[in-house]
Amino acid sequence: MDRLKGKVALISGGARGQGAAEARLFVQEGASVVIGDVLDAEAARTAAQINANRRAAAAVHLDVTRAADWRAAVDACGREFGGLDILVNNAGVFNTTGLEDTTEELWDTIVNINQKGVWLGMKFAVPAMRQRGGGSIINISSVAGLTGSTGSTAYHGTKGAVRLLTKAAAVQYGPEKIRVNSVHPGIIATQMIDIIPKEQRERFTSFVPLRREGTADDVARMVLFLASDDASYVTGAEFVVDGGLTAT
Ligand SMILES: NC(=O)c1ccc[n+]([C@@H]2O[C@H](COP(=O)([O-])OP(=O)(O)OC[C@H]3O[C@@H](n4cnc5c(N)ncnc54)[C@H](O)[C@@H]3O)[C@@H](O)[C@H]2O)c1
Repeated sequence: MDRLKGKVALISGGARGQGAAEARLFVQEGASVVIGDVLDAEAARTAAQINANRRAAAAVHLDVTRAADWRAAVDACGREFGGLDILVNNAGVFNTTGLEDTTEELWDTIVNINQKGVWLGMKFAVPAMRQRGGGSIINISSVAGLTGSTGSTAYHGTKGAVRLLTKAAAVQYGPEKIRVNSVHPGIIATQMIDIIPKEQRERFTSFVPLRREGTADDVARMVLFLASDDASYVTGAEFVVDGGLTAT
């Protein structure tokens, strides 16, 4: 309880899945959250569910590829809850297309959301965190940002980029007490991976040492740790939440 008491968090892609789990857990731990997503109705529903207990959540329209949306989302954190301490760059899109089949249009879409979106989020969050004397940024990459596979070319490229964008920002903003870390989930049971056929998911899971898919809450608990002062000497690092998959 109260590991984030008095803190304000902005969570991109927070309408559902891992982002929504983080929003709920953060509020349980005393934070206020602004949920930014392109899914306006789902984001409003998630915020309303959280607010049934205490008013601690607001939903804003945020397309992470648009600078103007980020500016408005950071402004909303100040207007609704008085500032910004934590950014979770969680929004992302998945895709299994291989290298030659990837069109320029698909490449640009994935890069804009998964990579440019993370940079823009940090660009607009840092000045607000500076005003609070520090902060914590958690960038959601993937095990696909650490290892390759036979497809998902643009996804691998963008998630790998998030890993190094994280380290670059950690080095630049460490002196201002802004910590920046990346989280690398494995196979997590959210709507994102519904595009993978059931048999293939079962085959993937058979390679996972813990022999199950992860849950959004499994990842949210790691993100909570990095957001909190428990991680006060942790920055520029990568945290795998994959049931042991990348250990094989
Ligand atoms: N599910 C997995 O197995 C898995 C594994 C590794 C990493 N991840 C990463 O975890 C993060 C969360 O994914 P999830 O599993 O909760 O999936 P999800 O599809 O349930 O959630 C992704 C959210 O991002 C939002 N989003 C997409 N494009 C956006 C945009 N342009 N602007 C703002 N929001 C946008 C979606 O509307 C959705 O709410 C993603 O970055 C994903 O790449 C997921």
